[in-house]
Amino acid sequence: MSCTDTINNKSTTNNKVALVTGSARRIGAFVAEYLHQKDYDIILHYRSSGDLAKALRDKLNARRAHSCIALHADLADPDALQQLAEQAKSWKHRLDLLINNASSYYPTELGNTTAEQWNDLFYSNARAPFFLTQALHPLLQASQGNIINIIDAMATHPNNDFIPYNMAKTTLHTLTRSMAKLMAPTVRVNAVSPGVMLWPVGDHDPSDEEKQEIVEKVPMQRMGTELDIARTIYFLAEEAPYITGQNIAVDGGQSLL
Ligand SMILES: NC(=O)c1ccc[n+]([C@@H]2O[C@H](COP(=O)([O-])OP(=O)(O)OC[C@H]3O[C@@H](n4cnc5c(N)ncnc54)[C@H](OP(=O)(O)O)[C@@H]3O)[C@@H](O)[C@H]2O)c1
Repeated sequence: MSCTDTINNKSTTNNKVALVTGSARRIGAFVAEYLHQKDYDIILHYRSSGDLAKALRDKLNARRAHSCIALHADLADPDALQQLAEQAKSWKHRLDLLINNASSYYPTELGNTTAEQWNDLFYSNARAPFFLTQALHPLLQASQGNIINIIDAMATHPNNDFIPYNMAKTTLHTLTRSMAKLMAPTVRVNAVSPGVMLWPVGDHDPSDEEKQEIVEKVPMQRMGTELDIARTIYFLAEEAPYITGQNIAVDGGQSLL
């Protein structure tokens, strides 16, 4: 528990609880804050972005006391994943929404792809969502909750540079459909597939010209935003009681091409 919050269950509210993996920054952080504004209590999860996760936790707790914790886990480590699930369970003994958002993403070239890269891409994008679902489904069943898996609108489009990543994301789609059938009628399981929302950071950030080219091909002629994703997640969780097993592309039409 050294890198993570001490579980301190002081809250007496009856708020719903959401666990958002990979929620220290970018889309995950935005979604967590959006759901918090909609009266969810939030379990943030982070791997290396501890400072950002703790800053967001403190911001949300300042708005509403005891409404957020931040838990550390490398989802590539099965023991850490199990510990994350246990800590999430023991916070409020309640879970209404699991959002499998954490993801590794980088190009891998045929001829030079390593087993480590393959594992890394599959651990975060496919294996962790399965085992988190397995560990947390009793709590989700008790609350008649929801699982939302974050896929990628272009996962089924052949792309020479992203074959293992796309394979991992399409596995997540299979998991979504399989769990939706298995867990009905108690828990609904859906997916949201972003298009171009935020550019990757670091070595894989496209050049300005490449970015322009990508956005020009999007039928809606612009990038999407974190708000587009957060609203769709909220719709699926709160306003769509007859929808399960679906994958909604939030991509401005990009996947139509
Ligand atoms: N951005 C886009 O335009 C776009 C497009 C299509 C699909 N998506 C999907 O939308 C979701 C959010 O996108 P994003 O761009 O905001 O994601 P991101 O910044 O690339 O990654 C989100 C978080 O995943 C966590 N993560 C990665 N590997 C992990 C591991 N082994 N264990 C634990 N955590 C791990 C990282 O946490 P730490 O920082 O704490 O290490 C990271 O902050 C992802 O599922 C992504 O595939 C995004």
